Amino acid sequence: MTRPTLSRRSFLQACGAAGTALALPVTLGGCGTDPGVTIDGGDPLPVPPIDDGELIAGVRVFRLDLQAGTVDFGAGAPTATYGVNGAYLGPTLRFRRGERVRLEVTNSLAEPSTLHWHGMHVPAASDGGPYVMVAPGATWVTEYDVTQRPMTAWYHPHPMHQTGRQVYMGLAGVIYVEEPTPPADLPSTYGVDDLPLVIQDRRFFADGTHPYSGGATVAMHDMMAGLKGQTMLVNGAVQPRGVIARGLVRLRVLNGSNARAYHLGFADGRGFRLIASDGGLLEAPVTTSRVLVAPGERVELLVDFAGDATGATVALQSYSGEVFGALFTGQMGANLADGLDRATFDLATFEVGAPPPTTIVPPRSFAPIARLAEGDAARARQVTLAMGMGAVSINGTQMTDLTTVPAAISFDIPVGDVELWTITNTSGMAHPFHVHHRQFQVLDVDGAAPPAALAGWKDTVVIGPGQVVRLLLSFAGVADRAVPYMFHCHILEHEDHGMMGRFFLIPP
Ligand code: C2O
Ligand code: CU
Ligand code: CU
Repeated sequence: MTRPTLSRRSFLQACGAAGTALALPVTLGGCGTDPGVTIDGGDPLPVPPIDDGELIAGVRVFRLDLQAGTVDFGAGAPTATYGVNGAYLGPTLRFRRGERVRLEVTNSLAEPSTLHWHGMHVPAASDGGPYVMVAPGATWVTEYDVTQRPMTAWYHPHPMHQTGRQVYMGLAGVIYVEEPTPPADLPSTYGVDDLPLVIQDRRFFADGTHPYSGGATVAMHDMMAGLKGQTMLVNGAVQPRGVIARGLVRLRVLNGSNARAYHLGFADGRGFRLIASDGGLLEAPVTTSRVLVAPGERVELLVDFAGDATGATVALQSYSGEVFGALFTGQMGANLADGLDRATFDLATFEVGAPPPTTIVPPRSFAPIARLAEGDAARARQVTLAMGMGAVSINGTQMTDLTTVPAAISFDIPVGDVELWTITNTSGMAHPFHVHHRQFQVLDVDGAAPPAALAGWKDTVVIGPGQVVRLLLSFAGVADRAVPYMFHCHILEHEDHGMMGRFFLIPP
């Protein structure tokens, strides 16, 4: 097997402008590009509005309007943005297991878009991938049954080649899937002791623009590295300060960044319990002081502030430097990492407020997770993620348009089958690999059983440089030979440049 690598020479060429000597370590912008302005944070932490929809004839109806807006992030001038029912980001949609939901998505933008329900088990025609576009001015109405276990999902656009830009502009939001009655032993008062944190990094310039402004495509270096910036947004505000309950708090973290992974921890070193990954609760809380969350992934943390004084503050940080070697290796990794990938930095500050409405004693364990076994698999597939010569690829090829998709990245999967996918990363940087429609299980990582944080249901998993990760996927659902689902790297610039494939669920 040949292992394509990006040589220093081709990398320099990829960076364009001759003479922009690449100083190692790469500075924030990379390739001598403008790293953007530094913005002081500290504004109040916004909490996205909760949207329970409207119950109409037994169906929970949500109305989502993709719209253009303007936000002053403090760059020096306002920034043109997109949002869902607002100027930036969108409401938190609360779905209940056993209900049917109807999504009415109106596209008030001047360009085509879509909304994809990342993490949701839905028929392909409802999935909102690049094959189901919503024209400017049109409304897309889709309905599906919420059958999956409680979890934190999210929604974002998915147009071919434009996902990175549209998400960067601000189109994204969180979905809570809950039981009709949430469990009493976990915090569940929205915005008080149960809050979503959407983490995104941005690169703003002094005139309020960013690298995707005005419909631009990003420079080659940002395509290869994924677009990263030095300004951290949480729920759309720069390094905000949020008042949280003086008790047990459930933080539902979504990494909504285009490319940057975060290694979360608290500045005072306090531990917390990791209770859920992408697909919902783990079998038991994992006590830790760090958790890695890559683009597309969600983690749920229980953090205890009961022992803190009212008014005390603690910063949520990313200890990125601690995982540098796990996310970047060799010359390619060194070239594609930036300063923050080697550093520790603040994301948000919490100020301890009033006690929560009730004192919660969380369970020591949750429901067991039925394990899929290697022997359940009807077939095995290889998925090789690679980078080289200014391009990203899967199985040696790329998805460049919707119609001519090479067989190596277009799968037909009989409904109901279990498959074993071996994901191999031959590149020098990590790729968060995502599969639509179904939560999967990690069978092993480089031959070893997955760590506890990866032992639950997942829909996005980090494949480190040089790693081999085997997944078991169970393809229940509805056959549809016309509309496929997608699988891809969730570094959105990689996805947009073809590190994506598709699969059709076909009749058994
Ligand atoms: Cu969140 Cu196809 O992705
Ligand atoms: Cu998805
Ligand atoms: Cu990637």
